[in-house]
Amino acid sequence: MRAEAATSSSNINAAPVMTFPALLVPTAMSARPLHRIGTRTYIAGYIQNSPDNMADWIEDPQRALPGNAMPKMGISQKDARDIAAFLYTLK
Ligand code: HEM
Repeated sequence: MRAEAATSSSNINAAPVMTFPALLVPTAMSARPLHRIGTRTYIAGYIQNSPDNMADWIEDPQRALPGNAMPKMGISQKDARDIAAFLYTLK
């Protein structure tokens, strides 16, 4: 799956903590678990949940919602879209 490849590539800072399916497990580094993220109305409680907004969030969470606790991880726009597509399968 491309989403797995995207999150395990060595140029992404979050790779050690956030490879799938570890992404689904709540840890001290993450906020809420991502179970059923594909069904939620909002991303991070503020942003309308849509495929475009989800990809924008993953590419640069600080641009999407300045000051939130999720760091920018250097994920490309294409990888962010692939990861968002995967997250939308979590119903
Ligand atoms: C590829 C890696 C990652 C992906 C795909 C990802 C994805 C997401 C998504 C979809 C949300 C929204 C969740 C929701 O609305 O319930 C979220 C929120 C969050 N993530 Fe990540 N995340 C990643 C890595 C990280 C890392 C490395 C950290 C921290 C070191 C982090 C910290 C957070 C925090 C704190 C929030 C909640 C923001 C808020 O509600 O204010 N994430 N993440």
